[in-house]
Amino acid sequence: MKAVAVFPGSREVKVVEREGPRLAAPDQVLLRMLDIGICGTDKEICSFEYGTPPPGDDHLVIGHESLAEVVEAGPAAGRFAPGDLVVPSVRRPCPHPSCLSCRSGHQDYCYTGDFTERGIKEAHGFMAESVAEHERYLNLVPPDLREIAVLAEPLTIAEKALEQIFWVMRRRPPWLDPETPRDERGRGLSALVLGVGPVGLLGAMALATAGFTTYVYSRELPPSPRTDLVGAIGATYVSSQATTFPDLAETIGNIDLIYEAVGHSHFALEALRVLGTNGIFVLTGVPGLQAFVEADPARLMREMVLRNQVLLGTVNAGPGAFADALADLDLFRRRWPAVVRTLIAGRYPPEQAPDLILGRPAGIKTVITFNAPA
Ligand code: BGC
Ligand code: ZN
Repeated sequence: MKAVAVFPGSREVKVVEREGPRLAAPDQVLLRMLDIGICGTDKEICSFEYGTPPPGDDHLVIGHESLAEVVEAGPAAGRFAPGDLVVPSVRRPCPHPSCLSCRSGHQDYCYTGDFTERGIKEAHGFMAESVAEHERYLNLVPPDLREIAVLAEPLTIAEKALEQIFWVMRRRPPWLDPETPRDERGRGLSALVLGVGPVGLLGAMALATAGFTTYVYSRELPPSPRTDLVGAIGATYVSSQATTFPDLAETIGNIDLIYEAVGHSHFALEALRVLGTNGIFVLTGVPGLQAFVEADPARLMREMVLRNQVLLGTVNAGPGAFADALADLDLFRRRWPAVVRTLIAGRYPPEQAPDLILGRPAGIKTVITFNAPA
């Protein structure tokens, strides 16, 4: 079967021919991969700045955002039947008995760092014709979400963040009642998203759906398909080329939440200075090596303490976030059908993957497909 792999030793990214997977344990499921999304992480891996092949291999099959169809379920994988659509999670637990997170199924909070991630860290990924996976790492997808379910994994970043934001919001008046419906939790609060990439835009959609008055701030000057999308979901787009952070803060009022989705350290520091009282600053971007920036840590500390602020980093996601992402995709589809049709920029064959990953992203999400829809 075909797969797309990166070879860090020879610095190559190419389509390779590999042996197809077989069920290796009774709880495994054989998957035919349908859609595999590409993202900034893939670009870093294919630029040899991130990612690690499995021990003993000279290459890593990439791909971590995916949608697949069940071909065969092992005798102990009774939750699934051939034809079911599934989205696999990415991270797999570390082996250490002492890791409370991994031992309780919460490897997205792994303590040791010895987890693996499919398509990223020491485990082959999903950009292949077929894959075998244990049933506990698979999330069942309703057939209605066939066209967009490949967006579930990038949306889980926002869903895991929201889960934590709601916990933090219970600490200050008005105390958030945990019984508040999901779509009312952000009511009366402002959220500022930094970045118009897929994580930023999906994050803005999730925040708007949760009831936040949502702003998206990035360099790009409108109009563009991305800035149009922001308007179409009832959020407000502001370009950093036209408006400074202090001016933006004046328009918004108290900024209750900042959701960072660029991984740009200087931009994030500037934003931190305008975070409101009792505000939460969520970091999701993973910066590579960047130029040294000057900061004023005493001032930042003073503000953070005197204004009860929270700085929250979040990575990867667990089963709850996958369930929320699939539920929200369904909501997005009903609420903004025209917007949802524009989220996937195009579907391309694996041979084009290297150029698409390393080139400038066009549109919102580019998808590689091995198997045309059935
Ligand atoms: C993936 C996460 C992963 C993270 C760090 C992101 O692109 O979506 O699943 O944990 O990279 O490797
Ligand atoms: Zn990703």
